[in-house]
Amino acid sequence: MLTKYREELITGIEEFDDLNEELFTKVEELMTEARSGNAGQCLGRFLWFLQRYVRKHFRAEEQLQRSLGFSGYPAHKEQHDLFFEQVSELQARYGREGNSTVLIVSVIKMLSDWSKTHIKTFDREAANFFRKVGG
Ligand SMILES: [Fe+2]
Repeated sequence: MLTKYREELITGIEEFDDLNEELFTKVEELMTEARSGNAGQCLGRFLWFLQRYVRKHFRAEEQLQRSLGFSGYPAHKEQHDLFFEQVSELQARYGREGNSTVLIVSVIKMLSDWSKTHIKTFDREAANFFRKVGG
């Protein structure tokens, strides 16, 4: 599982990289607490953080993409919307089921997939475009 913030996930856009790094720090905290048996409270806090992170990060990315006329915007936005739905579904599950190891594993797996499929490819593609247009 890809849960540590790695060099290869850096997009080169400071604002976005800082947000991504914050996400990975929180995932590590969640995993540490889960290992020590304290994930109950931590999961609720993490999901609350995740929803805020997603709103803030996606809004900023999408705004920049639109303002610079990034042609990959529709596909990128579609991925953001899908991820936001997944986060909402996890929150709903947490509301229904409360804390569980299965749910923690689902959250970590979803984020691991997200880092591999979105941050590493889609966000990088957008960052390359921003640098080209800006520089
Ligand atoms: Fe993105």
